[in-house]
Amino acid sequence: MIEGRQRGRFITFEGPDGSGKSTQAERLAATLRADGLDVVLTREPGGTPLGERVRAVLLDRDAAGRHSARADALLFSAARAQHVDDVIEPALARGAVVVCDRYADSTAAYQGYGSGLPLDQLRALEAFATRGVRPDLVILLDLSVEAGMARRMAGEPGSVNRFESPDAFDTAYHERVRAGFLELAGAEPARWRVVDADRPADEIAHDVVVAVRAFLEPGREGR
Ligand code: TYD
Repeated sequence: MIEGRQRGRFITFEGPDGSGKSTQAERLAATLRADGLDVVLTREPGGTPLGERVRAVLLDRDAAGRHSARADALLFSAARAQHVDDVIEPALARGAVVVCDRYADSTAAYQGYGSGLPLDQLRALEAFATRGVRPDLVILLDLSVEAGMARRMAGEPGSVNRFESPDAFDTAYHERVRAGFLELAGAEPARWRVVDADRPADEIAHDVVVAVRAFLEPGREGR
């Protein structure tokens, strides 16, 4: 950290496909910018040229054949390492608010709870990939598996799962992922906020902004 300059804040969005994370991340970034804050909006997998190439490899998994969960965990983590070095850490060091659509908790939920990789090994991988850069606040957009599937089927913007065709939807896997996210949130309530995502986008956005402002400016609500 540069002396005399306050370190920024790192906020991530997590949740299932179809929960509206990308839309909510964009709306939050716009609101915070309107508040006059320096905001960096980014996403995973992606966020850097390497990350976008890794994203393309991950998206191409149908063509490339099935990836093992370990290979996926390493690919997501490789993209994350570059993302931390090139985007997230420099922005935090200059005092910016970083808003990221998915981060390491997605690896724990999907490759850990969903695919069954040992969580302790994934946490060690996370520590290596991120050099310990963890979100200060995680917004979990929680949605039932049925509601998420219905949204994807309806083709709502941002709800299309590029990784699976609808007929290949594995309900049990997605139930484990959802339960995993909720378990992570329950284990660290000071860092996580769970927001019900089965509501209109405006209502979700309102709750997100209230939670984030309370976090960024503790005591403001009481003034
Ligand atoms: P994302 O681009 O957020 O898709 P969507 O907009 O549909 O939510 O993420 C793509 C997929 O990658 C999503 O199904 C979750 C998965 N994923 C993991 O399995 N592990 C990870 O570490 C990350 C970052 C994403």
